Amino acid sequence: MRTLISGATCVLPAGQARVDVLIEGGKILGIDPPKGVQVDETIDAHDLILIPGVIDDQVHFREPGLTHKEDLRTATRACAKGGVTSFLEMPNTRPTTTTVERLSEKLQLASERCFVNYGFYIGATPTNLAELQAATRTPGIKIFIGSSTGDLLVDEQEALERIFAETTLPICAHCEDEATVRANSQRLNGGSTYEDHSLIRDEAAAVIATKRAIDLAIRHRHRFHVLHVSTAAETELLRDPQGLITAEVCPHHLFFNVDDYERLGSLVQMNPSIKTSADNEGLWLALKQGRIQVIATDHAPHTLEEKQQPYPKSPSGLPAVENSLALMLDSVNAGICSLESVVQWMCDAPARVWDMVGKGRIAEGYDADLVLIDLNKKQTVRNENQQTKSGWSPWHGVTLHGWPVRTIVRGRTVFLDGRFDEEVRGAEIQFDHSRGGYWSQS
Ligand code: DOR
Repeated sequence: MRTLISGATCVLPAGQARVDVLIEGGKILGIDPPKGVQVDETIDAHDLILIPGVIDDQVHFREPGLTHKEDLRTATRACAKGGVTSFLEMPNTRPTTTTVERLSEKLQLASERCFVNYGFYIGATPTNLAELQAATRTPGIKIFIGSSTGDLLVDEQEALERIFAETTLPICAHCEDEATVRANSQRLNGGSTYEDHSLIRDEAAAVIATKRAIDLAIRHRHRFHVLHVSTAAETELLRDPQGLITAEVCPHHLFFNVDDYERLGSLVQMNPSIKTSADNEGLWLALKQGRIQVIATDHAPHTLEEKQQPYPKSPSGLPAVENSLALMLDSVNAGICSLESVVQWMCDAPARVWDMVGKGRIAEGYDADLVLIDLNKKQTVRNENQQTKSGWSPWHGVTLHGWPVRTIVRGRTVFLDGRFDEEVRGAEIQFDHSRGGYWSQS
């Protein structure tokens, strides 16, 4: 089947251009093909913009084991609606993804259930070095240097040294210092308001752990990706002349701060916690200056019932995959950043950080994972329209300007103007770690 996407303005690696895009066999066959080329289907995309599909490199989709919150079908419907064509999922499911066998089981499950492309991290424990060394079908190793949802935690120095010294896969980590979090929590008797969450998981907790992890990476010359940077202070640590360190920020840390607890309560309780408006500004600056390369959501759904429990029983995390691109397009319309930067942060950079084959760009030979966006469309986020099983969004009631309207996975339309084709399946993302990561690839 040959498809021509005709008339769209395309965000190409070299910039925007009004060119047609020819697709065949799930791949991009040509950019700007000769007029009159024979095709089976033409998608008229005048007045729309074509971008590569969003790659979300940090999500929690809860299957197996926590499927009352979310599962791979509901989560990937949400992805399709949000313009996310590929995701990398975290190991804190039940059971945890901490062995090669569990990783294979997850990949098998995903092949049956996912509407978009998938990859899964292998989680580190203090004792699973051999599994981390044997894993191949994975973007990399996830370490919870600070604990979060679930019981994955590696915070002893000796165990961390061993993981950085004796593994070759890229590593990413949740960086909040466990000792600092515990001491803060004790001082506040465990905390009693949602605001206390940001006092317990404070700036120092984030900075100490991020510093510690970067130090490990530099000493062991190991590629390392800092997940969900939440403070301006951490961004000062992200000046890396050796080309080993990359970093990520989430929309909630760009758009929310401690002033939002009053309105949103536990809906904006997550780990790392939201910080101050000065941190929002510092994170934006680091993105624009290239010290943070990636935007990802840390999509972490819990039911509203769970969230509405009093602090500290209320769990941390929020769902975001179906609104992250629209939030950033809204920022484009507000003049905060360019569309090219959004594509760089959400599509191109994550593909390069994790050495994905054929992802993140509109270029000949790349996978036909594409999104048509309407920069003029205004739509209000509503809990009742969310595809996530959790059924809510912290952006409920917010009108965003700029939305994905059609999502194409491997050449097939999975989402179009509010409707889904549930026959479409994503594929396992291929990683070629000999590429050397973000700083080795142009
Ligand atoms: O707030 C969070 N929730 N942060 C994490 O790192 C984990 C996540 C979850 O799985 O609920």
